[in-house]
Amino acid sequence: MEIFNEQVVHTKQQASEFNWDDSMLVGHEAIDETHREFVTLAATLINCSDISAVQSLIDIELHILLHFDNEKAMMERTEFPAMDCHIDEHNKVIQAVQQVRELYSNGKVKLNDVKRLAKALIDWFPGHVIYMDSALSTWFSKKSYNGAPVVFRRSITNHLSEK
Ligand SMILES: [Fe+2]
Ligand SMILES: [Fe+2]
Repeated sequence: MEIFNEQVVHTKQQASEFNWDDSMLVGHEAIDETHREFVTLAATLINCSDISAVQSLIDIELHILLHFDNEKAMMERTEFPAMDCHIDEHNKVIQAVQQVRELYSNGKVKLNDVKRLAKALIDWFPGHVIYMDSALSTWFSKKSYNGAPVVFRRSITNHLSEK
């Protein structure tokens, strides 16, 4: 994740939004719950102020350490084939968050850099969930229950087209 190659995020005039969306469901209750939490923390981070930035960075760092550790444990337990690639992506994210948290805490980067990190996380997350975490969820279900996970997504379009 090239955090510092991102463009400047202008967040002064308007609050940025990042909301949970059922397209991110992977059908594993614990993973989905953790992902909802990530969305909340990333949305808080992109809307943080100079007063709340350090705490928001600490909150998301603690979250991803546990989040990624739990997924790693699932991968190891079930001998997930694409484990290295998945863990590598997690590690890049941890590195980026820790780097910005340290630099911001030491006054070496500004609030806008924290927001660039938040924007990069928000841009990265849905793709990671759809490609990597959902593959893990499917694999985990097959290994544990011999079947693919069942995902119920709320969709107004589907609901209307059924009528
Ligand atoms: Fe995840
Ligand atoms: Fe993941």
